[in-house]
Amino acid sequence: MSEEYLKLQKCYESFKKKIDFIPKIALILGSGLGDYAETIKVEETLDYHEIEGFPISTVPGHKGRFIFGYIKEVPVVIMQGRVHYYEGYPISDVVLPVRLMKLMGAQVLFLTNAAGGVNYDYNAGDFMLISDHISNFVPSPLIGQNMDELGTRFPDMSHVYDSDLREIIKNTAKELTISLQEGVYVQLTGPAYESPAEVRMCRILGGDAVGMSTACEAVAANHMGMRICGISCISNLACGMSDAPLNHKEVQEVADRVAPLFKKLVTASIIN
Ligand code: 6GU
Repeated sequence: MSEEYLKLQKCYESFKKKIDFIPKIALILGSGLGDYAETIKVEETLDYHEIEGFPISTVPGHKGRFIFGYIKEVPVVIMQGRVHYYEGYPISDVVLPVRLMKLMGAQVLFLTNAAGGVNYDYNAGDFMLISDHISNFVPSPLIGQNMDELGTRFPDMSHVYDSDLREIIKNTAKELTISLQEGVYVQLTGPAYESPAEVRMCRILGGDAVGMSTACEAVAANHMGMRICGISCISNLACGMSDAPLNHKEVQEVADRVAPLFKKLVTASIIN
């Protein structure tokens, strides 16, 4: 058994001692959605540092805890704060929380993030349903001894983002008259934003949005057979597409401004 699997098991045992909630859906909150959990029926919370061996985020504004509760009767576990590869953690640590949520019982992974728009049709404040991703700029979380207990050595990647879930989200957005783009998310390492040439590269590769999370989590979840969906909040256009230089504060401000709409879309999209 690999060291990474033992670490995961240890986290799971530590979790089990404290919580006996069984979630159906796992939701990861990106920038701007941090306070989403305040709108749901919370049953229990568990700070990341209460879990032995769990990776803790260093990014300001990223809280670190699991929230267990109900969104319209559906039992959910919410990650308030994720760790990013650029913080220096090995990629196996970055996806450990996703693996842990699967062990908790979650069958569906709902990913959210703030991302830069690469597609010229996009505007700051848009939402993008993730149809597919490019994950290969960060190491695969599946590298190393395969965790046979979780999934197969060579997982298929034809349908990472579940088409039924995408249909639900598209219909929900339509009902709420929230406009929704659909496109390919490119994960780069960060923490620097991309140069204009790198943004052009992403566009040439078929990317529509670029960010620093999410795809590696989808790779790990797909390995475990979870059903996956994801929505990006396009907080800004990527470098070189407008005259404005990028800064984290402005990215967060836009994400915060559209957060109420983002929350509405997420809540309405969660059905049993
Ligand atoms: Cl422009 N790039 C990346 N990598 N992440 C972002 C972003 C851009 N805007 C928000 N998040």
